[in-house]
Amino acid sequence: MARKPLIAGNWKMNKGTVAEAESLVSDLLKALPQTDGVAAVDIAICVPFTVLHTVNAALGGASRIALGAQDVFWKSAGAYTGRISAPFLADAGVTYVLVGHSETRGRFGVPEPDFNEAILRHFGDTDAVVNRKIHAALDAGLIPVVCVGETLTERESGSAEAVVRLQVEESLTRVSAEQVAGLVFAYEPVWAIGTGKTCSGEEADRICGVIRSTIHALYSPEVAEAVRIQYGGSMKPDNAADLLSYPNIDGGLIGGASLKAADFAAIVAAAHH
Ligand code: PGA
Repeated sequence: MARKPLIAGNWKMNKGTVAEAESLVSDLLKALPQTDGVAAVDIAICVPFTVLHTVNAALGGASRIALGAQDVFWKSAGAYTGRISAPFLADAGVTYVLVGHSETRGRFGVPEPDFNEAILRHFGDTDAVVNRKIHAALDAGLIPVVCVGETLTERESGSAEAVVRLQVEESLTRVSAEQVAGLVFAYEPVWAIGTGKTCSGEEADRICGVIRSTIHALYSPEVAEAVRIQYGGSMKPDNAADLLSYPNIDGGLIGGASLKAADFAAIVAAAHH
């Protein structure tokens, strides 16, 4: 059974004003074919909360680009200042939501010397939090894109596989086989995000394979075959075709290169092969 690749842009905290978002969407609509090969690749853009409605309106119902959000809180409503719930996202037209991106995960127990970049990046998501967010997204009819990946220290100590396997196992607590088959995973080695350092295609494929075999062991071969697993981390027009040619890599989660319409369109084109 062939899995349909998903190319998803993650704008992060960029293009969050109406004018910026409208301009990038307008460029994307021009750069991406709206008819050719539409059936072969799914496309999404995960945008800041402030422009979800703007982007939804700018895409219009007929666009092949799906709307995505970058995070979600697991409660549906209540006294949770600053949080955004899954039903709010569904109402805003969202289809996909990133869950457990390394920039929202926590590194509890690691002493942080200062109020530095490390603190700014880590919102404290643990695997248990990721699991709750997955359930909340599924309950609201959203498709979670579950991000996993090891840090440089974890890779250097030889524990990349074990770290990723544990993240997958813990995030899937009480998630049914049917739900898992519809999920998207993104393998994003933390050391390759925004650094220009890409994981080799071979190694990215190997770890995506570890994710697939973990799902096989937890569920069944059929569920493992159905689930889509993206690679993310410095994917660009010049390395996308290679990364996307591997059997276990079903698309990409694109940060920096999703902010330029031509680059994003080139990566989408690379996924058509
Ligand atoms: P990058 O980000 O493509 O800029 O490395 C990927 C991500 O964090 O999703």
